[in-house]
Amino acid sequence: MANKKELRIGLIGCGFMGRTHSNAYNRIRNFFPELAYIPVLKAACARNEERVKAFAEQWNYESYETDWKKLIERDDIDAIDICTPNDTHAEIAIAAAQAGKMVLTEKPLARNVEEARKMVDAVEKAKVANTVWYNYRRIPAVSLAKQIIDSGKLGKIFHYRANFLQDWTISADLPQGGEGLWRMDANVAGSGVTGDLLAHCIDTAIWLNGSIKDVNAVTETFVKERMHQLTGKVEKVGIDDACIFHCHFANGSLGLFESTRYARGHKALYTFEINGEHASIKWDLHDLNRLEYFDHSDESRVRGWRSIHVTDGDQPYMDHWWVPGLGIGYEHSFIHQAADFLKSLETGEPCSPTFRDAFETQQVCEAVLESAASGSWKEIE
Ligand SMILES: NC(=O)c1ccc[n+]([C@@H]2O[C@H](COP(=O)([O-])OP(=O)(O)OC[C@H]3O[C@@H](n4cnc5c(N)ncnc54)[C@H](O)[C@@H]3O)[C@@H](O)[C@H]2O)c1
Repeated sequence: MANKKELRIGLIGCGFMGRTHSNAYNRIRNFFPELAYIPVLKAACARNEERVKAFAEQWNYESYETDWKKLIERDDIDAIDICTPNDTHAEIAIAAAQAGKMVLTEKPLARNVEEARKMVDAVEKAKVANTVWYNYRRIPAVSLAKQIIDSGKLGKIFHYRANFLQDWTISADLPQGGEGLWRMDANVAGSGVTGDLLAHCIDTAIWLNGSIKDVNAVTETFVKERMHQLTGKVEKVGIDDACIFHCHFANGSLGLFESTRYARGHKALYTFEINGEHASIKWDLHDLNRLEYFDHSDESRVRGWRSIHVTDGDQPYMDHWWVPGLGIGYEHSFIHQAADFLKSLETGEPCSPTFRDAFETQQVCEAVLESAASGSWKEIE
């Protein structure tokens, strides 16, 4: 495209997130034509040649690699996008930054704070643009919640409540580890629901309500041993199957968070509610275009929860889509983040959450796990 600067992308990992990111890059040209940068899909990378070749063709990549180190060595690539399991994030991101590439990585930033700190150091030392795909921030209703809170409409905030509930690991026959089930293996995932699901809730919470000061948590592993797909042996399960924690935010409000993969009937129920002095807000991923809003300053006879359908052109991101009243979906949060990353290259402003922002979430996750292990409150350092 004439007059456009190119951001040449090398994407690693062709699973679920590989697809959401590739879809995002492919749609930018059509829906964000004002951006100075356009993504160019230079290469996709995964270990299995047959699969990565098919993936590259399906999603319009110009080429493919089977070794991420080769991808990073290529001088026709500007940005490395990491869509691989959590145990690979640190090594790939650090190598990419050292090679002078911009780095986008999937969440959680890393398996633990130690890895995450090295990643932050690497991107900051190399001065390369970076972002972490905590994509829920970019759902228009969630972005609108941020605008409402920042405008002061809620007043002093008292409570922040979030849940992320699933039910896919209830069967004791489900094996752990290996393709498709790496989330069940603590060595690969770093943790269970805390790093996988609560990390999202914590990122959104810090964004909307500020820093978390201290936490008190309980975790449970309901099925203690499972067959490991890679070793063929029954092994101890190291992940947290469920986690509940409460906390103090720096602004004085109380937080209550719950996540589990044992809530029968729930596939991906991410909800949050915020109660302030003057107003409250709630949101539900299953109805993601809606923001529920209660404003105590409304005339009392008609006061009640408003269900705002966040689809109008003056609401966040919506001027890029259809006409008022028509909803968008999960995949759009990734398109918005990709667009914001490209915009950040134009403005020179960081694209939040940066590695440093995501480091704070990592610290909270680690404090949650430490609190659960010790049975005591843990401050965020
Ligand atoms: N932002 C979100 O909402 C969200 C949702 C799901 C997953 N994630 C995160 O995205 C990452 C990937 O998760 P997923 O669900 O896409 O997993 P997935 O299992 O669907 O895909 C992972 C891919 O990485 C490939 N891979 C693994 N090791 C590799 C290596 N060394 N080199 C090249 N390719 C390798 C696998 O073959 C697979 O194609 C994880 O960090 C996860 O936490 C984020």
